[in-house]
Amino acid sequence: MAILPILEAPDPRLRLISEPVDTFDDGLRTLIADMFETMYDAPGIGLAAIQVGVPKRLLVIDLQDGAEEDQEPVRNPRVFINPELFDPSEEINLYSEGCLSVPEQYADVERPARIHARWLDQDGKQHEEALDGLLSTCLQHEMDHLEGILFIDRLSRLKREMVLKKLEKYRRSRKAA
Ligand code: NI
Repeated sequence: MAILPILEAPDPRLRLISEPVDTFDDGLRTLIADMFETMYDAPGIGLAAIQVGVPKRLLVIDLQDGAEEDQEPVRNPRVFINPELFDPSEEINLYSEGCLSVPEQYADVERPARIHARWLDQDGKQHEEALDGLLSTCLQHEMDHLEGILFIDRLSRLKREMVLKKLEKYRRSRKAA
């Protein structure tokens, strides 16, 4: 396994529309294992393939419950290949989102509270589930990446510019450190 470099905004590759996965082979399994290792190392709770430069409709999520409560996080790795969403709830959820491609920046984003999702696992088997809570928010955030959309695109222009300014400042401090 390997930790892969994560693309950061405004890298133009983050704007690509990802292509469906059509081959379920060892190459795909290696990429998935590397994506989990990269995500855990970052650390983060979700990662889309395009964030490591691969424009495929593949994402990994692990909410690692307990990670914030000073206890050993419980790992529950989930792989979503060629995911589709349907029947979003009218009820909206507000969550302070972050993104490994927009490091150390957080902002409130509104999304449907509940959704239905259909996807393939790494063996090409189809799954369907109703999702809510953080998993629903996280999956919708990661699926935006497949369309070249970042969470900052869902903010007002004023807020987006504020976040980008803070990101520049963060980058300068990271370089100086
Ligand atoms: Ni993200």
